[in-house]
Amino acid sequence: MHTLTPVLTDNWDADRSWTIESYEARGGYGALKTALGMSQDDIITAVKDSGLRGRGGAGFPTGMKWGFIPQDNPNPKYLVVNADESEPGTCKDIPLMMASPHTLVEGVIISSYAIRANTAFIYVRGEVLHVIRRLQKAVQDAYLAGHLGKNIHGSGYDLDLVVHAGAGAYICGEETALLDSLEGRRGQPRLRPPFPAVAGLYASPTVVNNVESIASVPSIIANGAEWFSSMGTERSKGYGIFSLSGHVTRPGQYEAPLGITLRTLIDLAGGMREGHELKFWTPGGSSTPLLTAEHLDIPLDFEGVGAAGSMLGTRAIQLFDETTCVVRAVLRWTEFYKHESCGKCTPCREGTWWLVQTLSKIEHGGGTAEGIEADLDQLLDQCDNILGRAFCALGDGATSPISSSIQYFRDEFLEHASNGGCPFDHAASTLFA
Ligand code: NAI
Repeated sequence: MHTLTPVLTDNWDADRSWTIESYEARGGYGALKTALGMSQDDIITAVKDSGLRGRGGAGFPTGMKWGFIPQDNPNPKYLVVNADESEPGTCKDIPLMMASPHTLVEGVIISSYAIRANTAFIYVRGEVLHVIRRLQKAVQDAYLAGHLGKNIHGSGYDLDLVVHAGAGAYICGEETALLDSLEGRRGQPRLRPPFPAVAGLYASPTVVNNVESIASVPSIIANGAEWFSSMGTERSKGYGIFSLSGHVTRPGQYEAPLGITLRTLIDLAGGMREGHELKFWTPGGSSTPLLTAEHLDIPLDFEGVGAAGSMLGTRAIQLFDETTCVVRAVLRWTEFYKHESCGKCTPCREGTWWLVQTLSKIEHGGGTAEGIEADLDQLLDQCDNILGRAFCALGDGATSPISSSIQYFRDEFLEHASNGGCPFDHAASTLFA
């Protein structure tokens, strides 16, 4: 474990870190007791003042989202944790829930209290049975310890927490599709607005937050908003988990202040694999436009990555060296989006199918030196017809790797055509082989 800001990952290497005994021995559930002595509005203010922004990818200010819950609405309020982490390359929430499920459970209780919810859900992807079991045990132990249930620690506040397993669909990570799925329907996105804060689960006010966002709340309550906002950059406060994968010597989770550079993270990870150089990378999963070695020194915060033409997203940094064919990588991701498109809207359902056809033709030798410019125009035109026209972010995300790879590696697409197919030895890359 390499960590520059040991907060979320602080206890991951502790003996049986996932047990309530281990968590409480390190001061766990202390923030809950502090929070129950505060007013709900003061907790919301603390989270607003901390500058915490959503860690699921979009970076929406967490405290502001909580503040949108209309307290005059007579319906119950709900907190739903989005633990459906599925973005290719994204792998921070699952290790967090495995290593320290009680950090999440404590965050859920404090956050639910703040928004006046008496029922909360953790919606976790169905494929990760080991995580579901670990969460269920943590929730059961939290009930037995009096952290959940009726009249929590004599405060008069009641909360029930349900761990709900999804059925393995990427679209169910989209917050409104997740709510449909939680209600027992087929998971497909809803039209927004209304946003869930106004009409979410069972048409009631609902906060949907990512695992890492909610797990960040106990330390903000324990240490104060100023402590949190003293880390990070001007508009991207605090720390986050950066997940490094691919051609790097020590792949894994690196907790660091927002604004760190990829150059520093690669150094921490022991460098690129020996004898090779960085070619391209994703800052936050495959839905964020690719960047290259020119971008090693940009600050990894919402603004810095945005200014470079991409998005911070989930900080899922997938690193590829010069042995990797960018066309093949992008084709593989596009096949994923085509497979996962829920089919509700035409631009995404049909568009991702067309993207796969065109990319596949180029990668597998169907392109010609004369026709490649027209193929690339067609690909970009297909992207244009999806971007901003799809029902949810899935369609937009599918276009990101394509348009950015053509921007930075146009020559490699042309080479595929003149070569009559892919010029790479995929075994050398080992990825996408
Ligand atoms: P968004 O920017 O539309 O919304 C972000 C959050 O802010 C949502 O919870 C939304 O309800 C809330 N919000 C925005 N405007 C609001 C308003 N006016 N009133 C009340 N609430 C408001 O982003 P979206 O479409 O929810 O998510 C896209 C992001 O998801 C991408 O940035 C991508 O990085 C990330 N993503 C993450 C995945 C993962 O596995 N963690 C998978 C795929 C995408």
